[in-house]
Amino acid sequence: SRYWLVVPAAGIGQRMQADCPKQYLRLDGRYILDITLSRLLQHPCFSGCMVALHPEDSWWPGTLASTNPRIHTCTGGRERADSVLAALAALATRAAPDDWVLVHDVARPCLHPGDLDRLITRLSGHAVGGLLAAPVTDTLKRTRPGSLEVEATVDRSSLWRALTPQMFRYQILAEALVKALDAGVAVTDEASAVEHAGLIPELVEGRSDNLKITLPADLALAGFILGQIGG
Ligand code: C5P
Repeated sequence: SRYWLVVPAAGIGQRMQADCPKQYLRLDGRYILDITLSRLLQHPCFSGCMVALHPEDSWWPGTLASTNPRIHTCTGGRERADSVLAALAALATRAAPDDWVLVHDVARPCLHPGDLDRLITRLSGHAVGGLLAAPVTDTLKRTRPGSLEVEATVDRSSLWRALTPQMFRYQILAEALVKALDAGVAVTDEASAVEHAGLIPELVEGRSDNLKITLPADLALAGFILGQIGG
């Protein structure tokens, strides 16, 4: 099987309160999007990369990625899952049903090359696929909806944070996303769609510093992590 990269980058990053979508903020003069894509494409296994962009994206032509012949673009959709599905559709003529698709958030520039490599090595013999995940380290409290009164402390020993990349067989992922979107279930990651289809994704433990840039303070933190992990 071959390996394809899908990078949903059609979000507008409302929570960053910036003048541009968060993937076009800069760290050391480089766009987050360029940092993320260059880290992913350092791995030699990929046959190609499809980036889903917002229909009104005006920054893309100014990126380094836009000059890379291995990187293609398509128009994303309303939700993240729509954007991933659009990217899969754009790959349809090139990808085989059993090929692997790795979906990675453009807002996660701190992916460690070792994690990417371990995910691929661990799952390449799997029938379905899976994802990088990190154990929950905080103590978790549950409240009633809308209330701040503690109802219970939740056992965290079997709880994980879902990270990306998430790696699934092309056809399994495409069918699962269509099914989940049709059913109107919340699809906040690829694995949740696959689970909804009755299949079982496998976790591969990844580093907890695979941060998703979401809030303004995350940008400086990402710069620090990148300085630490290098590569
Ligand atoms: O907003 P959030 O951080 O959850 O977005 C996760 C990823 O999904 C980002 O890479 C964002 O660009 C992408 N996204 C997308 N299309 C949407 C919404 C989000 O590609 N409609």
